[in-house]
This record gives sequence, structure tokens and C-alpha cells, in this order.
Amino acid sequence: MRWEVAGMEREEIVSRLRERKLLVAPDAVDHLVGEHAGEAEEIIKRIIERASGPFVSRELVEETVSDMHEAQKIKSIVVLQQANYTPAAKDVEADVKIHDEWDVTGKSTCTGHVEDFVNYFRDRLARESHLLKNRPSDLGVTRMSALKQSMQKKNARIVGMVWEKRVTKNGHTLIDIEDEETSLPCFISKDAPAALKEAANDIVSDEVIGFDGYLSNGLFIVKEIIWPDIPIREKKLVEDDIAIAFISDLQIGSRYFMQENFTRFLKFINGDAEKPQDRELAGKIKYLCVAGDVVDGIGIYPEQEKELVTKDVYTQYEIFSEYMKSVPEHIQILIGPGNHDAVRIAQPRPRLPNEFTKAFEGYSNIHLVGDPAFFELHGLRTMMFHGDGFFSLAANMPKLSGAYTNPERAAVEMLKKRHLSPIYGENPVVPEKTDFLFLREVPDLVHFGHVHHNGYATYRGTTVINSGTWQSTTAYQLKQGHLPTPGQLPIYSARTGTLNILDFGGD
Ligand SMILES: [Fe+2]
Ligand SMILES: [Fe+2]
Repeated sequence: MRWEVAGMEREEIVSRLRERKLLVAPDAVDHLVGEHAGEAEEIIKRIIERASGPFVSRELVEETVSDMHEAQKIKSIVVLQQANYTPAAKDVEADVKIHDEWDVTGKSTCTGHVEDFVNYFRDRLARESHLLKNRPSDLGVTRMSALKQSMQKKNARIVGMVWEKRVTKNGHTLIDIEDEETSLPCFISKDAPAALKEAANDIVSDEVIGFDGYLSNGLFIVKEIIWPDIPIREKKLVEDDIAIAFISDLQIGSRYFMQENFTRFLKFINGDAEKPQDRELAGKIKYLCVAGDVVDGIGIYPEQEKELVTKDVYTQYEIFSEYMKSVPEHIQILIGPGNHDAVRIAQPRPRLPNEFTKAFEGYSNIHLVGDPAFFELHGLRTMMFHGDGFFSLAANMPKLSGAYTNPERAAVEMLKKRHLSPIYGENPVVPEKTDFLFLREVPDLVHFGHVHHNGYATYRGTTVINSGTWQSTTAYQLKQGHLPTPGQLPIYSARTGTLNILDFGGD
């Protein structure tokens, strides 16, 4: 008997999949010509995209169907702009300048050879040393090789990369630093002033640092430690009364993604807010920054599948795209990737590839950027990165213990060190020719995520924002003792330099 169905015939299904070198199980075909006959065309298209081996099982078909329905369900929640809503920002011209030279997209040259590492560290040393050499000081920087030859006991400033830091059995601190020519052991006595010993605790491996002191019997006696740091400035304000909203770590696809809460945020940004002042604030939003982990991805951590409701990464991005498309078009959206996104796990990361973002075609207000990214919004120099360097820094700097609940403290240290991931090797970093994780310029705004905990600071005129998450607490986080702060939306008013935090996290 021939199976005649409204959608496709058995033979057609089998041959369509065979063309793509896929063998389909008979019970999988039953499923396709049975209940889901009308959708077979679309299902086959999705199976071709997601099949990871040559066989198409009934399980794969069922999973594909359930993901597709999930996406359709979400797509049907259309968030429409409120009638008689006239957002003030609509009349303000957008002003976005993306500094592509900061972005690794299309510039990755790493081949995994030893020279890549050498070039990477050389670039880091040169860039950070340049900042330290330009710091105003009575002492110019002396090359370590010159110092060793002729400058015993004379005060000098040296600059180098930290090779190793250790505490001797007598309680002194020894830091080996090196530059292109040589290395030098630097010494901080256990009897040194408390402030110096405390500062020594902040030194981490692989960072570039300056020391003031003198050479004595082959040891450099450290009197002061100098970090590259950012200069002290006034907070930069803009004339137009516009605002910037910040989100990250939506983790779409995870069963813990807070869909209802996020929909409430979308309604708000479309002018649907109870309080008139919230509606007014929504109307001022001209820019929306998205700092990565927009989806939960797949295969990111062991047994992740058990925690996913959408197991197909394409579907996860489809849902994300629908959400972004429901943000009013007068709002410029900047989207960078995180470690859960469909780009390489190591930083720096290129922007999300086209295959996942096709839905944005024609949306001139949506800008895809790498991680890290640097751009100007209405003249405000903004550094956006996902924040992978957070955990290694927090684990290696005693003053950052407990920073999980104050992630902004780690970002301030990154500003001081002028680097987003100074300790090499604890979180994956690709040794590119240029160190993209070095902070080349001084930002007015710093936006990051990854920690799933909101945090804010102002440091030397720079506003630091961690935008938390839109995922509720997972079983894993609970086990780790982490308590995320989901649904907290920071909005920065650019004219006044103030932050408003709106709470969408409740039931
Ligand atoms: Fe995340
Ligand atoms: Fe992350």
C-alpha cells in the first residue's frame, strides 16, 4: 500500500533525506507521515540542519518537532508597541560608531604555533609597558638590562611582565618579572609597610606591572607598585536626554530562562508600563546593549541537555531573534557573544555568525559585534565584553573573595590592570597577534555579564555595569552557593549619568 498524505509521501521523505546522505528509520518516517504530515517539509529542513550523524531516528524527529513547536509558541507572543505611545528617543538621531579595530571578527590569525604565543605576549608587554612608561613620574623607566649593569642602589622604575609570584618560607614576597631582554627577581619584605604588602596581594601572573625601588645584590627591592590604570576624569555626560539599557545572559533554551519576565521587559520597552515615570524612562531608551550568552547553547557543560527545553541551537537563536525584532526600531541594539553562544569558546570571540542571525537581515538597528567590543553611543565610549576573565581574577586576588555578589569589583581591577583576562591559561584565550583583551582606550561605560549577578560602580569617571541575567537559579548554581539576580534591568540616563534599576524579576 502506498501512503498518501496531505504533506509528503514516504518515498519522498526517504529520498529527500538520502540526497543529504541521511538514512531515516522506518518509525521516524511513520511519525513524519502520521501526526505531523502537514509540517513535514519544515521538519525535514530542520532535521537536515541539526543531524550530527548519518542516521535519523524517531527520537530526533520528535525532538525537532517539539523544538519547532516551542519556537512557534514563542513567536506567537507578539509584543506590540502600545497605541498612543510616542517615545521621546524616536525623535533623537541615533549615533553609533563601532570601533572595528578592537574586534577580532575576521582578524583571527592564530594557528596554534609557538610563535603565536610569543607574538601575543610581546604585543601585551609592548602595549602595557607603553602605558606605564607614559605615567607621569619623577623617575623615568629604566630597562632592566641597563639597571643590572650600572645602577646598584639607585632609585629606579622598572616595567615587566609577572612570570611568577611566590611567598618565601620566611614570609617575604618574591616576584619574577621579565621583559624582552631579561628577567629580574623583585623583593617585598615581610617587614614592608602594610600598604605595600597589601598591594602585593593584588599582583597576578602574566600582568604587566611597574616597580619603583632599587637594585641590591641582584634583587630589586620594591618600594612601590604601579599599575597601568585609567586616568581620573569627570564622568562624561551627553546633551540629549537619552538612555541606554543593558541586558545579558538570557540563556534562551534553558528551562530556567524567565520567558514571562523577559516578555514583561519587552512590553516595557514598547511603552507598556504601569507607572508614568517608567513609561517616560522607556521612551528615553535609544540603545540596548546585549553582552552575550543570549542562548544557553548545547553541550556547554555536562548533562546540559537535561536542563534544556529547546535542544536545537538554531531554534534558540530563532527565538532570540524574534525577541530582538520586537524591540522598537528606533532603538539601536548591539549584540556581542558569550561562552554559551555559537562562536568559539575562547576569547576574543568574533560576532555571531550569519547562519544564526539571518533573521536580522534588513534590520539596520541591530549591530552584531565581537567580544570584547568597543563602540561609541552618542559619544559615550563603551566597552562591552562577556566577562570570562572574572572567575580567574576573583580566584587569584584575595581582595576579590566574595566578588560573585559584587562583580563590578573585578571589573574595576580589570580597568586598573588595563586587561580583561590578565592571567593566561585559566580561561581559554586565543593568542592572537594583537592582544584584543588589552584595554587600549579609556571607556566611559563598561558593560559585562557572565556572572549572573548585577553590580554597579563608578571608578575614576567610568561607569561599570554588570547586567545580571534573565535565567532563574539553576540546580548547578544552587550547589555552588551562587544566588543570581535575574530580571534586574539597568538603565543609564546619559544626560545625568545616573542609573535606574527596574525589577522584572518578580512573579
Ligand atoms: Fe551566562
Ligand atoms: Fe557566560
